[in-house]
This record gives sequence, C-alpha cells and structure tokens, in this order.
Amino acid sequence: MAAKKNLSMEEILASCRSLDGGGAAEPSATPVTPSSGESTTSSSDATPSTTAAAPGKKASEMGVAEMLAAARAEKSKPAAAPKATSKAASPAVSKSSSKAAAPAAKAIPKDTSSILAAARKDVKPGPMSKAEAAVKAKGETPTRGKPKIVVPPPPEKPAYAMAHQAEEPSAGDRRSFMSTAVGTFVGSFLAVGFTSLGLTHLLWLLGFARFMFPNIRIEPPSEFRVGFPADFAPGQVETKFKAQFGVWIVRTEYEGQAQIFALKSVCTHLGCTPNWLEGEQKFKCPCHGSGFYKDGINFEGPAPRPLERYGISQASDGQLVVDKSKKFNEEKGQWADSTSFVPV
Ligand code: FES
Repeated sequence: MAAKKNLSMEEILASCRSLDGGGAAEPSATPVTPSSGESTTSSSDATPSTTAAAPGKKASEMGVAEMLAAARAEKSKPAAAPKATSKAASPAVSKSSSKAAAPAAKAIPKDTSSILAAARKDVKPGPMSKAEAAVKAKGETPTRGKPKIVVPPPPEKPAYAMAHQAEEPSAGDRRSFMSTAVGTFVGSFLAVGFTSLGLTHLLWLLGFARFMFPNIRIEPPSEFRVGFPADFAPGQVETKFKAQFGVWIVRTEYEGQAQIFALKSVCTHLGCTPNWLEGEQKFKCPCHGSGFYKDGINFEGPAPRPLERYGISQASDGQLVVDKSKKFNEEKGQWADSTSFVPV
C-alpha cells in the first residue's frame, strides 16, 4: 500500500478526470487520504447522497462524490501550497491562496476604506505637494485641504485718531451748540434787518442830496450884441443867431420905415420853429405850413397872428443889443414901440 500523501487540487482534479474517463471501477495508482485538518462535511450545494471520503481510503476505491468532497476540503484548507501550483490550480484555489497572503498586504493600506480612514485621521497618504513637503521638513505634520489663513490683528489707532474718538459731545455741549445755533440764526435775521434799514437810510440821504441840487438849465443871457447896423444889408434876414439865441435879425421896411428888428423864431400856432426860405422870401413853419412874410406878418397856414419881436437897442459903442426879456406883439400895436426896432 502506498504511503499517504496530501494531494493538491491539480492532482485531485487529474484523479477525477482519470476516474471519470476510466469508470468508477478503475483503480487509481495514488491513494487519496484526507489530511487531519480536513473536514469531511459536504458543502450546502453538494449532493445529499455524497459522503465524506474515508480516511486511509485509496483514490481508486473512492467514488467521484468522495473525490469532490476531498477536493472541496482541500479548497477550504488554508493555503500552504507553494505559489507555483496556483497557475495549474482552479480559480477557486488561487482565490484561496490570495486570501491567505492578505494579512501580509494589510501593512500598507491600499483599499478605499483604508485611505478614507487615513484621511479622517488628517494624515495624507500619497504624494505630497511642495508646501506639504516644506511643512514636513520643519518637523510638523502636513494637514489636508487648504492651509488655514492666519489673519494678523489690526494695527492700533494712532494717537490723533484716539483723541478724536474720545471726544464725545456731552449733553452740555449739545445745549450750548443749540443755543449757539439759535443765536446765530436770530443774529443773522437781525443783521439782515439792520443792514436793510441802513441801506434804506442811505438811499434817502442820496435822494435828499439830489433834491438839494436839481437840474439847472443854463440859458444864455437875455441881452446880447449882434453887431453894427451897417453889418446888415437892406432886406437881409440874418439867421446865424437862430440856433444860439432863437432870433432872426431882419433889416427891412415896415410901414414905409426902414428898420432893424429882432424876430422871435417861434411859430405862433403851436410853437414850432419856422425856417427862412431865401428863395421864397418867407418864413415857413414845417409843422403845419404856416407862412410869414419877411416883416413877420402871417399870411398862410394856421398861425393866428404875426411873429413876436424882441427888444432891440443900440449900445453906446454903436452895436445893436437884443433884449429877450422884452416882447412885442403886432396885434397889440406894440411894434410901434421905439424899443422894438432900430431905425436905419
Ligand atoms: Fe407853425 Fe403849426 S406850429 S404852423
């Protein structure tokens, strides 16, 4: 009888295939002996009629069910087989072998749960950034996430700012401020009132001064010299004194007597100033067309009476002197007065 030997899955499967191909009665050269640790109980999906392989039973004497049971027992056994047999073994066997090697790999956390656990411990597994490396170089533990921003405390206020801040107006200060404001308001009204009153008085004084110095029309003297009688030709009407003195000096005959007299250059209608028309030998009023002869008698237009004469006399030096303070009206018979003409 051959010695007992722990078979691998590959060997067990090879035995099974040989048994299936050779029939149940074909004996196997290798006896099948379950290990001491093997459990002979079948799995839940095993056939109910399947029984565990008897210890010390040869493989040739075992049925297929027993061989499968032995194989499942081998599968459930902790992996002690070398890694070289894993390739030939079934996937189930390789899976069991990987599970057996798991405790060794647990030293380095590689799965998601372990990484998350490490993250919750505030330790970053994996590559570090330059900032984290710098922190680690200082002997500190680099933390995950954004670095905490350390805000420095604000600088203290300077002395001048503290002084302004300390100046809180008290109730007395507020009352004094209000009284000052009211006083300023009332004072401004009084100032405006007194200023207006002063200006009014000033205007009154200026008006009074203007009243004391009214407009004065400086008229020419009422008597003035017009020259010698020889300076006037017979039949001449001298108009050069019209603009300044308002008189014409006329040398002509009146009622058969040669005379020199002074006619007032004012129309007897409404006071306009007639013009001497040398060509027509008449005085013509431009306002309403009154006409006067050379001696001053009215003959056309609305003028109701002849022109007036001023007083005229001959001074000691022989010059003719016109006196405007004396007036002579023809309709009153005053032209016969010797002071109303100078005979020549
Ligand atoms: Fe001389 Fe009327 S004012 S005609």
